Amino acid sequence: MKIERIQLQQHGDSRGMLIALEQDRNVPFQIRRVYYLFSTKCDVHRGMHAHRNLIQLAVPVRGSVTFLLDDGEGPCEVVLDDPSQGLLLRRMVWREMYNFSEDCVLMVLADQLYDPADYITDYASFLRDVHGSAHQGDVAAC
Ligand code: TYD
Repeated sequence: MKIERIQLQQHGDSRGMLIALEQDRNVPFQIRRVYYLFSTKCDVHRGMHAHRNLIQLAVPVRGSVTFLLDDGEGPCEVVLDDPSQGLLLRRMVWREMYNFSEDCVLMVLADQLYDPADYITDYASFLRDVHGSAHQGDVAAC
């Protein structure tokens, strides 16, 4: 699948770095929710769902994490380890997150409020919704 990374402009000077996230400027949607994952155990897998309607931008503010993404054409892996690069997650993309570094703080911006009804938590159901039939592919490097 096409991985969409958003390069975020860094405002650095002798004091350090600053990155601003702005709706409809460098974030291509209305920001209605922000949440962040931290203190994640290194052997944990999170996510394991797709969203019917939600669009999100994931930014590894600190540390690193691996995403497995699948838009129905087969899974691929992306490592996020740069706080100046966001990963855009469009609708109907299966995502799993693992290999969290001990210091990882993963911030996620979303265009909708939290809605459990928007989740598809069964991979086979996700594939059925995308394709009309279930199949699986090999993990590819993105
Ligand atoms: P969960 O969906 O399990 O997180 P992940 O998909 O990253 O593994 O969410 C963990 C808990 O947090 C769960 O009880 C739902 C709650 N939650 C909210 O209340 N608001 C939110 O915006 C999110 C993402 C989760």
